[in-house]
Amino acid sequence: MAGSDASAPVSRLVEAARAAREHAVADFSHFKVGAALETETGEIFTGCNVENASYGLTICAERVAIFKALSEGRRRFTRIAVVADTSSPTPPCGACRQIIWEFCGDITVVLANLREVTATLQMKELLPLPFDRRLL
Ligand code: THU
Repeated sequence: MAGSDASAPVSRLVEAARAAREHAVADFSHFKVGAALETETGEIFTGCNVENASYGLTICAERVAIFKALSEGRRRFTRIAVVADTSSPTPPCGACRQIIWEFCGDITVVLANLREVTATLQMKELLPLPFDRRLL
């Protein structure tokens, strides 16, 4: 999914994450998650969680969205929205925090449910002492 308005409202990003959540393959947890990643030019790449019978090979919605964007050649991002059907915010897991940090940097993370935005944070808040290539 792509757009062209770099200053689009956050509602557009959250709506894209809600729509992506509908495609979640969550047969085991039944916990459906959608993500929408915005590029610096205002394009949106979406993802949903995909589970399988081995459980451990499950991939979160955030990483699907990021890998889709990277595989299409995009490298600079501004925001990611994450949507789950929960009243309290569903933040990215540890693995996703590492991937978001390494490929997106200190972007804004918008957490929302099916009705409203429940939290807005920066990646630096979610991963205050990151390991990354600067330490190698
Ligand atoms: N999950 C995500 O996709 N993103 C998150 O931020 C939290 C967890 C997925 C992984 C698994 O399919 C299900 O939610 C339950 O953990």
